[in-house]
Amino acid sequence: MRKICLINQKGGVAKTTTTINLASALAANEKRVLIIDLDPQGNIGTCLCVQGEKTVYDLLVNDADPYDCIVTVSENLDIITADSSLAKAELIMAGQTSRETVLRRKLEPVFNYDYVLIDCPPSLSLLNVNALLYANEAFVPVATDFLALDALKKMSQTISEINELFDHDIKITQVIPTLYDKRSKACVTTLKEIKRGYDELVTNPIRMNSKIREAPSQGKDIFEYAKRSPGAMDYKKLAQTVMEAEEYA
Ligand SMILES: Nc1ncnc2c1ncn2[C@@H]1O[C@H](COP(=O)(O)OP(=O)(O)OP(=O)(O)O)[C@@H](O)[C@H]1O
Ligand SMILES: [Mg+2]
Repeated sequence: MRKICLINQKGGVAKTTTTINLASALAANEKRVLIIDLDPQGNIGTCLCVQGEKTVYDLLVNDADPYDCIVTVSENLDIITADSSLAKAELIMAGQTSRETVLRRKLEPVFNYDYVLIDCPPSLSLLNVNALLYANEAFVPVATDFLALDALKKMSQTISEINELFDHDIKITQVIPTLYDKRSKACVTTLKEIKRGYDELVTNPIRMNSKIREAPSQGKDIFEYAKRSPGAMDYKKLAQTVMEAEEYA
């Protein structure tokens, strides 16, 4: 089971969009996928029009069984949703011992998936430390703008610090350039710089595509909403890259 967090301390870089569409593409390839929304914004549930009766808050704070928090969205795709109560969970957890590994302990019984994808909030919070200490891979979506390298550098540094502090071994295994527009000089230059710095970890860029932006308003992923769009093609290709790395992972 690959345990992956989609993380970038920077906001609005397509973490949630990538979690949803990558999960859907993997599920279409017969992979069993669980998405965990670890963001109090609760965007995963909103984008897919699902809300669990029990959420990740109940898992972290109320000792709920993880399987009671899981909602099945489609064949091969399950979700644990979040809502604003998750911000309260963070405060409660802050007063506990071993607060950084709550998620890891609560998810111990969950093993019957090929992929667990965690959509992380845009911060360096206790929730994100929990995600990093549960997962063993980090995928970093990064907008192809001039702040990209700075965000990537910060993420690499955070991960090194967490590994050292908690004797953990999570690695950045994919850097996913997003919001790419080949007509923009800034995007083209940034993509080159990302490739220079992160080489084989860098996936195909996800192009800027209005269909990707529209899909959540219909409660759909890109494949249900516009399966022939450039956005669908890019996420399909990303899923191929991710699956090709299975053996290595
Ligand atoms: N390839 C794309 N083309 C066009 N719009 C996109 C694309 N990818 C993401 N978006 C849009 O960009 C916005 C931010 O995306 P998203 O919510 O996935 O980012 P995020 O990193 O999860 O944000 P946050 O940090 O707030 O959690 C959304 O409106 C989304 O629809
Ligand atoms: Mg998000």
